[in-house]
Amino acid sequence: MTRALSLKTIALGLALTGGSTAALSTVALADGQDFVTIEKGQYLATAGDCISCHTAPGGKPFAGGRGIMTPFGVIYTPNITPDRETGIGAWTADQFVASMQHGVGKDGELLYPAFPYPFYTKVKRDDLVAIKAYLDTLDPVRSEAKPNGLPFPLNIRTALMGWNMLFFTPGEFKPDPAKSEEFNRGAYLVEGLAHCGACHTPKNMLGGDKSDKVLAGGVLDEWTAPNLGGDLRTGLGGWSTADIVEYLKTGRNAKSAASGPMAEVVYYSTQHMTDADLKAMAVYLKERAPSPAVPAPKPVPAEDPVMKAGLAVYQDNCSACHVSNGQGIARLFPDLKGSAVVQADEVETLVRIVVQGTRAAATKTAPTGPGMPAFDWKLNDVQTAALLTYIRNAWGNAAAPVTADQVKSIRGRLTDTAATP
Ligand code: HEC
Ligand code: HEC
Ligand code: HEC
Repeated sequence: MTRALSLKTIALGLALTGGSTAALSTVALADGQDFVTIEKGQYLATAGDCISCHTAPGGKPFAGGRGIMTPFGVIYTPNITPDRETGIGAWTADQFVASMQHGVGKDGELLYPAFPYPFYTKVKRDDLVAIKAYLDTLDPVRSEAKPNGLPFPLNIRTALMGWNMLFFTPGEFKPDPAKSEEFNRGAYLVEGLAHCGACHTPKNMLGGDKSDKVLAGGVLDEWTAPNLGGDLRTGLGGWSTADIVEYLKTGRNAKSAASGPMAEVVYYSTQHMTDADLKAMAVYLKERAPSPAVPAPKPVPAEDPVMKAGLAVYQDNCSACHVSNGQGIARLFPDLKGSAVVQADEVETLVRIVVQGTRAAATKTAPTGPGMPAFDWKLNDVQTAALLTYIRNAWGNAAAPVTADQVKSIRGRLTDTAATP
């Protein structure tokens, strides 16, 4: 909530005339920038979601210090306020652009790809210069970088040279002349600033994107980011562009609700984007991967004893909200029938949600985020596995059964709580 307030304060600072704006215009004039550039920069910084990574829990916005968990260890974000010593106040526009487009620090040192520069490389120079102009208007905060928790040899930055050679393709976005302007705008945002693939594209052993599986679904921090392709069962095949826009704008729609990391994306970033940009992203997602007919696995039959056990657990614990037909209540309790989250190959989100409970993001247009209680005190690994096997194979759903060992292993890795802004 502190972070939320701060974001609003910044917005207010920009919108109001008065002390803070007077200070802004001085900065603006000194840099030869105008308000249009700064406002554009603020919008783009929001689309790029800089604030969510560059703000420590309860800390000053953009002052860094949030730990980004990677499979290799924790990496702390630096301070990107205009403090000249501990932030980026002394950086030139060129240094900033090089950082965003090539993943290098002020003196050319290589940065870890926990900083999504493999996506930001696609952002046009003008847009990056606008982001820097906006960041320069923030209050400078003194805040030293925290040391990372990376083991040798990953703590040696030159090791990233090999990583970049293997997995990093620098270069600004090139529009596809055969496609509409709207599609290209959506592609520019999704592949670039909005870095949707950072979570939704599966990663290889070294943390590089699997380039043949762009947006096919990934796992991060014991959350499953579903397939954003056109598959009907595990992707967005059943979603219209309007469904996608509503989800990104309000954090929910008639089918689903955003939890965990996606709730943060909606809260800090997409709910503030224009309807035109949200629609462009939706059009790009639908057109780049129109619904292909991928055969579904054979569902576990209803007579299977595990399905029967799962049905009993479901009726006792879940049907009050998600209803016995699995369809829930539009915009309140997500539809589990036909859900990509429910039928995804990876079951991290499912186990996490049942064990820890979850709360949907509260947004401007949908201010009360409905919550789901935790069941860890009530359901053991065997019951949870039967329950999940059931919801993955009831009502026409079809997906591999979940084992008690899978539940146990994911439960054991859940160290943080499902914090939703
Ligand atoms: C997913 C998390 C994440 C997001 C989103 C993110 N960053 Fe970062 N950023 C990082 C991390 C982690 C580092 C540090 C990398 C390292 O130490 O090698 C970093 C480093 C940087 C640096 C280099 C600073 C320095 O002192 O070397 C700049 C500049 C920067 N980010 C700007 C931005 C801007 C602008 C945005 C929004 C458009 C943004 N970042 C969004 C995680 C993120
Ligand atoms: C920080 C990681 C992260 C980023 C970045 C991210 N997502 Fe997500 N996304 C997730 C997770 C995790 C879920 C699953 C949430 C849930 O189960 O409620 C999700 C769910 C979704 C869904 C719902 C899918 C479904 O079938 O229910 C859509 C649509 C979506 N994301 C689109 C996007 C778009 C578009 C972007 C870029 C603007 C994006 N996401 C960026 C992690 C992320
Ligand atoms: C008190 C009402 C309530 C009960 C009981 C409940 N849920 Fe939920 N559930 C919700 C709400 C609200 C959400 C959306 C929250 C969010 O997205 O963060 C949700 C989300 C989910 C999701 C994620 C769906 C998506 O599209 O991202 C799954 C899966 C789920 N519930 C399964 C279950 C199961 C299994 C049970 C029984 C153990 C259960 N729920 C019990 C209210 C409930």
